[in-house]
Amino acid sequence: MTIYRKLAILVCAGILFLALLPIANTAGSAFLDLFKSKSKTVAETPVAEAMHPHGPPGGWPEHGVFGTYDRAALQRGYQVYAQVCSTCHSMKLMAYRDLTQLGFSEAEVKAIASNFQVTDATPNDQGELVQRPARPSDNFVSPFANDQAARAGNGGALPPDLSLIVKAREHNEDYVYSILTGFGQAVPANETIAKGMNYNPYFPGHQIAMPAPLHEGVVSFADGTPATVDQMAKDVVQYLAWTAEPHLEERHETGFKVVVFLVVFAGVMYGVKKRLWSKIK
Ligand code: HEC
Repeated sequence: MTIYRKLAILVCAGILFLALLPIANTAGSAFLDLFKSKSKTVAETPVAEAMHPHGPPGGWPEHGVFGTYDRAALQRGYQVYAQVCSTCHSMKLMAYRDLTQLGFSEAEVKAIASNFQVTDATPNDQGELVQRPARPSDNFVSPFANDQAARAGNGGALPPDLSLIVKAREHNEDYVYSILTGFGQAVPANETIAKGMNYNPYFPGHQIAMPAPLHEGVVSFADGTPATVDQMAKDVVQYLAWTAEPHLEERHETGFKVVVFLVVFAGVMYGVKKRLWSKIK
C-alpha cells in the first residue's frame, strides 16, 4: 500500500512541477529584468533615448497563445523585402525554397530564384568558378559581396542582415515597425542631425544612416491592397517575424496540446489517488 501511495504522490508532484515550470520561468526572467533595467540607468549613455516603439492599432496576428501568420500579409511582405529592403539588406539564413511555406508554388519559387546569379561551388572543366542562375536550394543572394562593400555603399554604416532582426532587437515587431514608420518627423530644436544621417526618434541616438525606405506606392501589390507606408511596414514586419521564427505556429499548437494533456492527465491521476487512498481509513 505505502509503495502505491508514494508512487501517486511522486507522479502528482511531477505533474505539478511540469505545470508550474513555465510560470517559474516567466517569473524568473521578470525577476532578472529588474536588475537589467537597473544596470541600464546606471550606465546611461549620452545618446538620446529612443522613443518607446509601438505596433499597428490592431496588433500582430502572430501574437498570443493561438497566434498564426497571415499568409497574404507574408507574401506582400516578401515582395516589399525583395523590391525595397534587399537592395541594401542581406537575408543570409533564408533559402528560396523556404518561400513555399508562404504559399508560393514550386514553379513560382523556381522563377524567383532564377532572377539571381550565384557562383557555383563546383568549378567547370577548365577549373574556373562560373556564375549560374540561383536554384530553390540556394540561400538568398546578398546585395553586397562583403561587409566592407556594404559599408562603402551606405556612407560607412552597415545595413544589418534582416534574417533574425525581429528576434534580435528589444520590442521585436514593434521596433522594426516604428523605425519604418518613424521617418519624416520634425527634428526637435535641441538635436542636430549629422550630414548623411536621418532623424528617426525610434533609433537609439535618433540618427540613422538608412534613408526612409518606404514611400506610398513604391511597390504594387498583386492582390490590390493599397501600398501605403503603414501597410507596407505592417506586411514586411510580419514577413521578418516569420523569417525570425518560422516554426511559431507549430510551437503554439504543441504548447496548447501539452497544456490540454497535462490538465487531462492531472484529472486521471486525481482519480487514481482517490481510489488508492479510499482503502486507507
Ligand atoms: C538604401 C539602403 C537601405 C534600404 C533600401 C533599407 N535599409 Fe534598412 N538600413 C540601412 C542602413 C545603412 C542601416 C544601418 C543604419 C545605422 O546604423 O545608422 C539600416 C538599418 C535598418 C534597421 C535598424 C537595424 C538596427 O540595427 O537596429 C532596420 C530595422 C532596417 N534597416 C530595416 C529595413 C527594412 C525593413 C527595409 C525595407 C523596407 C530597409 N531597411 C531598407 C540601409 C537600408
